[in-house]
Amino acid sequence: MARAKIALIGGGQIGGVLAQLAALRELGDVVLFDIVEGLPQGKTLDISEASPVDGFDVKCEGANDYSDIQGANIVIVTAGLPRKPGMSRDDLIGVNSRIMTQVAEGIKVNAPDAFVIVISNPLDAMVTLCQKITGFPKNRVMGMAGVLDSARFATFIAWELGVSVKDVSAMVLGGHGDTMVPIVRYANVNGVPVMELLERKYNDVAKAREIMDAMVKRTQGAGGEVVKLLGNGSAFYSPASSALAMAEAILRDQKRLLPVCALLEGEFGVDGYYVGVPCVLGADGIEKIIEFSLDETEQAMFDASVAAVKELVDSMA
Ligand code: NAI
Ligand code: 2OP
Repeated sequence: MARAKIALIGGGQIGGVLAQLAALRELGDVVLFDIVEGLPQGKTLDISEASPVDGFDVKCEGANDYSDIQGANIVIVTAGLPRKPGMSRDDLIGVNSRIMTQVAEGIKVNAPDAFVIVISNPLDAMVTLCQKITGFPKNRVMGMAGVLDSARFATFIAWELGVSVKDVSAMVLGGHGDTMVPIVRYANVNGVPVMELLERKYNDVAKAREIMDAMVKRTQGAGGEVVKLLGNGSAFYSPASSALAMAEAILRDQKRLLPVCALLEGEFGVDGYYVGVPCVLGADGIEKIIEFSLDETEQAMFDASVAAVKELVDSMA
């Protein structure tokens, strides 16, 4: 059986790590596309020359021509500019919309049957544009943000409680901006509620709340925290890992329940906008959107996040 083909549009920081991770996990043959000549060829040659050491048997090639993505089963898009210190994700909308328009045309013509995972920022707007231009069905066009935001939340919880990250389950919904919604009520360590663990640790309900509020705030600002530390560019290891988890769920039909930026048509009371919600990812892409009841606080946060997404997306019209 032929190996799957993974096309990566954008050969920058995230694109390079995506190519390496996809090769290491033997998820499929990789084509790394960029408009800069030599960049994707250099990175993929470098990755290929690690294959005897790491022992992976996939092709990893660079491209500057969209025809090279033909036959791709999955396309992951990182083309666009990243944030600089002091910039919000939304400040990127003008330049990245122009780039996304070219990219989506290239995908539509050359990989008409592919699943598309958009990473470029501002995420909620870029995935909306990508779906609009490709015209692909909603199960095939999705955005990556929730897996990353949830991983960040889980990391902070594991550090705070001194437990393995493997046992922490935490989900962040809503838009990929400062209004994102960490779902505190269901955050748990192997089934034990995080809030109860914090209350027992501090023997003080108010202190537990204060610690959780700080973790929520840090999660909401986690992208900016990395941008400030790096001084140039934004996070790239964790975004690549997060998007690869989504690609793997689709390629290996894993039916994973992950927070995905999906086009809602009535779910969670939202119609016609891409918002981060729990989805089942499998061989048909977004196979199901999983709805559950939000409590009053979560609903208020979710509504504010959706309002921010709407404002951003409507500004493109
Ligand atoms: P980067 O600047 O390292 O790479 C972007 C690449 O896109 C560059 O190599 C550039 O040559 C290429 N590019 C520019 N115009 C293009 C075009 N028309 N066609 C094809 N390629 C083009 O940026 P990085 O760090 O890889 O980030 C990529 C994007 O991902 C940024 O917009 C960033 O804000 C976003 N991001 C999103 C996250 C999320 O959770 N959704 C997390 C982190 C970053
Ligand atoms: C991040 O969350 C900047 O969206 C990017 O790291």
